[in-house]
Amino acid sequence: MNAPAELAKVIASQPDATLGYKDFQLGSFRFRRDEYFAHISWTTRDGRPLSHTMDVGAFLRALMRDVAWGFFYGGVNFDDVIGTVNHYKSVDLQAGAFNATMKQAGVDLLENFPTEQIAATFAEMLDDWTNAGFDPFAAPQETGSPYGRKNGSNVKALTRARELATRCVGLPGDLALRTDERGAPVNRAFADVPQDEPELHPEPGFEKEVHAFNLFAFLSRSQVTWNPSFTSVVKYSYMCPTTEEHILPILHSNDRVEWFFQMSDEIAWDCAHRDSGRPMARVIMKAGDMAAMPAYCRHQGYSPKRSMLLVWENGSPNLVYEIQKGDAPEVPVQF
Ligand code: PHB
Ligand code: FE
Repeated sequence: MNAPAELAKVIASQPDATLGYKDFQLGSFRFRRDEYFAHISWTTRDGRPLSHTMDVGAFLRALMRDVAWGFFYGGVNFDDVIGTVNHYKSVDLQAGAFNATMKQAGVDLLENFPTEQIAATFAEMLDDWTNAGFDPFAAPQETGSPYGRKNGSNVKALTRARELATRCVGLPGDLALRTDERGAPVNRAFADVPQDEPELHPEPGFEKEVHAFNLFAFLSRSQVTWNPSFTSVVKYSYMCPTTEEHILPILHSNDRVEWFFQMSDEIAWDCAHRDSGRPMARVIMKAGDMAAMPAYCRHQGYSPKRSMLLVWENGSPNLVYEIQKGDAPEVPVQF
């Protein structure tokens, strides 16, 4: 095994003399940005050079999630072509490996990297390519432009602490409730959400066990979009609500069943097969609707207005292997 410092080595060029951005290399993949686009290039399995282009705003929003979530559960697809797959100690970087057309043409590539190596490269690329005034976690109407030549940086936005409760938001010693004073004002879309908190009357000695809080008020004060945070944790049952506006910047490929509860407003989901990208379903979720995403699907959501979504995850580290062995189901219910 290489030493951690060796694994975290990032291969980057000098900044481009005109545009100001560095190029990055990871295995056989090369990443370059210009004023509008991110360009990813690689050599296909049969030796041909190939490249792929993404809008740089969409690329940085996807990269931000991949970095902040430690490569998430299963696959994080930046679009129909490129993405990562988390193996929890190592990570695949792939182009076209889950795109039936590219796979058939033999132009796909998948390489595996130690997590430290890909994490360090992605973090440095995100930092170098994000200009002052652009926050990849913010809704497009609440942040500046990602475009143009290099202009400063936005370290504060890129290094936000993940908001993860250990047991439950608001318990003594756990993740605090959001308030104006803590820099979390109510979002413009949720001005009508009541901010009162439930009354708690635990018996003496049970103050750390009996608990409740106003989840709608908590979510109304989220400063970011498409960023599930743990609000309660019971064994491997993680309640991960989030506020959504515009497009989920990734197509998430599940490696387990995942539940959605639409708590307000509306999100439309495009669901496709995880391995081929073949479209499978369009799911329109209105306030009060619940859905479960099977372990074999990828999904991307569209939220026309800022909305509240509860994502419920089974965080068991064994689940993915139980599903692979056929010991756990890929769907939550069989009709
Ligand atoms: C998901 O992939 O299931 C997901 C990710 C982020 C969100 C919502 C859903 O904000
Ligand atoms: Fe998902």
